Amino acid sequence: MSGTDGLALATRGLRKNYGSRRALNGLDLSVPTGVVYGFLGPNGAGKTTTMRVLTGLVHSDGGTVELLGKPFKRGDRRRLFEVGALVESPTFYPFLSGRANLRELAAAGAPVPAGRIDELLDLMGLADRAGDKVQNYSMGMKQRLGIAGALLNDPKLLLLDEPANGLDPAGIVAMRDTLKTLAGLGKTVFISSHLLAEVQVMADVVGIIAAGKLVREGPLKELLSLEGVVRVRVRPSLVDAAIKTLAPLAKAEPLAETDRDEGWLSVHLAPDRAEDVNQMLAGAGIFASGLESSADLEMLFLDLTGGNGSPDGEGTFVGLTGPIDGQDGGTPAGKGAAA
Ligand SMILES: Nc1ncnc2c1ncn2[C@@H]1O[C@H](COP(=O)(O)OP(=O)(O)OP(=O)(O)O)[C@@H](O)[C@H]1O
Ligand SMILES: [Mg+2]
Repeated sequence: MSGTDGLALATRGLRKNYGSRRALNGLDLSVPTGVVYGFLGPNGAGKTTTMRVLTGLVHSDGGTVELLGKPFKRGDRRRLFEVGALVESPTFYPFLSGRANLRELAAAGAPVPAGRIDELLDLMGLADRAGDKVQNYSMGMKQRLGIAGALLNDPKLLLLDEPANGLDPAGIVAMRDTLKTLAGLGKTVFISSHLLAEVQVMADVVGIIAAGKLVREGPLKELLSLEGVVRVRVRPSLVDAAIKTLAPLAKAEPLAETDRDEGWLSVHLAPDRAEDVNQMLAGAGIFASGLESSADLEMLFLDLTGGNGSPDGEGTFVGLTGPIDGQDGGTPAGKGAAA
């Protein structure tokens, strides 16, 4: 494959159909070595299907996969010893402890050095519950045990499908630290999520897919500088005048009726352009009484995926744009978070 030097994972033109349903439609992913890569897409976009193809759980119908610089072909499952994965929700023996489950897993695969299991239990914050039966673990604890299992062989590439599922906000922060540590050790971490806030917190590089195709890929910082929102507050009676004044610069609108009543306008503009908004309004004799800006991956996500990316109500997570309410998929801007 051309153009894949230095990549830990690359797919080119990957296709997968389930009967007449097209799950992957020519997917090109380029995952650099040593980063946390956030693989983002709305429900049904093809994330799990991609993970299944990458781990040999299903065969693709076309295209190529390169894992750690070498082609991954049908039947090449030995290659997967270098790759750790958590794709389907992990299955454990419920009547065994977390530690015993990891021992079972280790016994079934390549040999693991002594002390490795306790090291991993510690890393995933399970040390003090390692002796408890897995049936008494919470969902988040099972998820963390699954990740410990994926790390048993000290893989260079880690593939995790929705690793933050079932984790509380503190668990997500702990997960981010763990994944960053792994990336700092030169490992590549590929995580999928349909929740933006998670990816915004965890990833260095982001790939966004919709309907089985890549729609945007790049460093998170770069993507965020492209898309954002500047919020400006003017006298409520001047809202319409302000919208007209700003029109040559960017689209401005009150996002809700309460915004209009309070004089808040959202201007769809890169976050570093707040000054321009201020200057332009002042030039028209409209003086802002409030100004804030934030990067907004959510807006980019909704744009790129055709608005089909609403979070599905799994609770409130804290991202760069402030709390994102899981019930409220339609609000483009996290209010009140200044960048
Ligand atoms: N075993 C299957 N048989 C038939 N269709 C399937 C199967 N698995 C997935 N699909 C379809 O393939 C498409 C992609 O599904 P996939 O599970 O990869 O999406 P996803 O991005 O992981 O979504 P989610 O965020 O909900 O986990 C969907 O239209 C889905 O209905
Ligand atoms: Mg999925």
